[in-house]
Amino acid sequence: MALNTRAIAANVLTLIAGKGKSLDTVLGKALDPVEDPRDRAFAQELVYGVLRWYWRLLAQLQSLLCRPLRERDRDIEMLLLIGLYQLQYLSTPTHAAVGATVDACVGIKKAWAKRLINGTLRNAVRRAPELDKLVMSSVAKRTAHLEWFVRALQRDWPRYWETMLAADNDYPPCSLRVNARRGSRDEYLQRLMVAGIGARATRYAEHGIRLDKPVPVGSLPGFEQGSVSIQDEAAQLAVDVLDLPDCARVLDACAAPGGKTAHILESPIRQLSVVAIDRFDHRIALLRDTMHRLGLSAVIHRTDAARVNDWWDGVPFERILIDAPCSGSGVIRRHPDIKIHRREEDIPRLVDQQIHLLNSLWLLLKPGGKLIYGTCSVLKAENDEVVSRFIAGGAGIRIDRIEAPWGVATACGRQIITGEEHMDGFYYARLIKE
Ligand SMILES: C[S@@+](CC[C@H](N)C(=O)[O-])C[C@H]1O[C@@H](n2cnc3c(N)ncnc32)[C@H](O)[C@@H]1O
Repeated sequence: MALNTRAIAANVLTLIAGKGKSLDTVLGKALDPVEDPRDRAFAQELVYGVLRWYWRLLAQLQSLLCRPLRERDRDIEMLLLIGLYQLQYLSTPTHAAVGATVDACVGIKKAWAKRLINGTLRNAVRRAPELDKLVMSSVAKRTAHLEWFVRALQRDWPRYWETMLAADNDYPPCSLRVNARRGSRDEYLQRLMVAGIGARATRYAEHGIRLDKPVPVGSLPGFEQGSVSIQDEAAQLAVDVLDLPDCARVLDACAAPGGKTAHILESPIRQLSVVAIDRFDHRIALLRDTMHRLGLSAVIHRTDAARVNDWWDGVPFERILIDAPCSGSGVIRRHPDIKIHRREEDIPRLVDQQIHLLNSLWLLLKPGGKLIYGTCSVLKAENDEVVSRFIAGGAGIRIDRIEAPWGVATACGRQIITGEEHMDGFYYARLIKE
């Protein structure tokens, strides 16, 4: 069985690192046939762990191999990284880690590689101090990030870049948002206690709870009945930033899977109506599931929100939330494949989309209305720089300062530093139409 979990993890990693697939799309499917929850958890640990430390482990592997492996042997490379990960980060005894990884060659139908894997991993054990030293000379290798990203964080966050890089390699907490329509946070904390699930109230988000340890959603009391949702505390702060008045018509322009749409509708503000948009069918399906589970309703459109003529009925909004598509650089700890996939040249393309959304949707805001621009990015290029470019390009746009006990005030908004109070790295700016 151990053999299968390592082979499955190697296949998943090959799809991600070799074929550019995303973790979310491949992992669930690959784990479906694994019945024992402990095996599933172990395979998942291997995949997440190797992705988290990929650039560091790869640098070490390259120094262990006499020549690079062929492209078609990416799966062997992944198995070797799995071996190194176990040796360096897990408590698996050395002989078991090496032996089981060697055996997994059969699982990926490459029994010929047994000697190569055995020899390389034994070599890694012998040369452990040297391998450690090898990665110490470079921040990028030591922290397992790409060079461009390290440089960007050092430039943008001279005081925080080390903390942020370290937070990217941490295990993220599992946080919940209690559905205020179904009960209070204190009541739900009681239900968790009765269920034997350790948890505490979040510091800043009014309805937030952080679990001591992640649990499967199925074991959360009342999850299916809509008592609670999974949502990071940083994301829950969007509703505070929105500063919702009674009777507001709200546009949630990039809404799926619906975490913030649902939170808006769960709020006690009277007579809110929400138009929720997302561009992709599969994401709209997730949004509909969220609404259905929580018993909420919004007007939903599957379209490009910026193509206003295709969906807007001409009635302006009091509030607009643009939770923009972004690099995801603030949520690397949850999606460590971002470390592999995200390239420097992606940023200008994302910035164009962000500016285009702002320009198109600003016209839909009522005078006196507020637009909230948010990202789960920590890069200034996608945050303050986007907002200041937008302001410079228009008239009657005023920054409405977000006064809050969380995050760091920036030129246009607030940045939550990844890991601050256990939160994801998130950015918010609030603009008023004069
Ligand atoms: C950061 S996610 C939104 C998360 C969501 N607000 C939540 O809290 O659950 C960004 C979403 O924007 C969508 N998107 C990207 N470009 C879009 C566009 N031009 N119009 C509408 N949706 C878009 C993506 O499909 C993605 O679902």
